[in-house]
Amino acid sequence: MKNFEFYNPVRILFGKGTISKISNHLPAGVPVLFVYGGGSIKKNGVYDQVVKALGATEYYEFSGVQPNPSYEQLMPALGIIRGKNIGFILAVGGGSVIDGSKFLAAAACYKGDEPWDLLSLQPEVKEALPIGTVLTLPATGTEMNGNSVISRISVNHKLAFGSSLLMPRFSVLDPEVTYSLPKNQIANGVIDAFIHVLEQYLTYPSRAEVQDRFAESLLLILKDTGSKVFADPEPDYNDRANFMWAATNALNTSISMGVINDWSTHTIGHELTALYGFDHAVSLAIVLPGVLTLLREKRKEKLLQYGERIWGITSFDHQAAILETIKYTEQFFRCLGVNTKLSEYGIGSEAIDKVVNQLNSHGATMLGRARDVTIDDVPAILGTRL
Ligand code: NZQ
Ligand code: ZN
Repeated sequence: MKNFEFYNPVRILFGKGTISKISNHLPAGVPVLFVYGGGSIKKNGVYDQVVKALGATEYYEFSGVQPNPSYEQLMPALGIIRGKNIGFILAVGGGSVIDGSKFLAAAACYKGDEPWDLLSLQPEVKEALPIGTVLTLPATGTEMNGNSVISRISVNHKLAFGSSLLMPRFSVLDPEVTYSLPKNQIANGVIDAFIHVLEQYLTYPSRAEVQDRFAESLLLILKDTGSKVFADPEPDYNDRANFMWAATNALNTSISMGVINDWSTHTIGHELTALYGFDHAVSLAIVLPGVLTLLREKRKEKLLQYGERIWGITSFDHQAAILETIKYTEQFFRCLGVNTKLSEYGIGSEAIDKVVNQLNSHGATMLGRARDVTIDDVPAILGTRL
């Protein structure tokens, strides 16, 4: 196991009715910016619960944050933050609202002229407004990490940045708020969280047994309970609770400690989203089988471990077992209603050059932290996805 530092200061308020506790965790006497998305929270009662919980707190609203949040759409909020002397941001929504709020938290304190530089130049974040979140979509893990992914529509870029200063002060996880999720968003959440685990676990053996077994328990819960949540005609509280907590743990850094991480599937997936507007999880479901096929020899040991412990696949013929494992993984995504081939979205081989050009345009040549996927591998990876 490699050396590591573990730091996660996010306070989790988990369970039914926990939105009502928000005010206990807001700084006193500070105007709050309440950020939300396209209106789902007004239909499912979350907006009313938040307003009630805010009570007498002075607050202002910024709404309409869209999926794959964009710089262009977020920038006007900086005017409210400065004009109203906002000292705390409360993000209520899925990953897009929370990531958008993190960007605003850093942009509001950024000393340079152009806040997009936070993403394109990756300077160290020196200061940020504090944020809190009410999560409505278990998927990204952003509620318990310091990362944010923002798109700039004018140049077709989708980039990530991060800092421990962007970790929420608190995150409210009430499984009941997920009852209003449409099926495709449940599928997205299960797939995104599942692939988060794989990007950290399915690399090379590190003798990190706690992390491995923890990762495998998350994969099993996402596979079994996630499928049940997707299929159930009526929501079951405990299934929702387990799905929600699994998705949070999939990307709160616990399982990435001391092991070799990857993230090449995410890097390529972000380019597909920037080019074609895919939902984040859909882009990953397309790319991952291609990455695993490419790496089936190099990552043999972990692929065999994953296949045996998650899918019950064993064989003396290791190559056959690995191919079967990749097939089961892809089939899992398809059973959740997500197509995994570019052609199924009306996209042909022209996508390959476009993705390569996009990666080149921001100097991304080494695509994963495991250092076994480069820009030169993209044609082979996407070639299997046509
Ligand atoms: O906008 P509203 O009306 O709220 O509707 C949203 C949106 O249309 C809807 N929704 C959310 N909660 C709901 C609900 N509808 C009904 N009931 C509820 N309880 O779902 C739609 C999708 O929401 P979005 O926030 O876009 O989805 P998700 O949580 O999957 O976030 C995706 C974004 O997070 C980034 C992705 O790249 C993408 O931009 N990621 C962030 C990460 C991080 N910060 O650590 C890591 C991830 O890998 C990912 O890259
Ligand atoms: Zn993701």
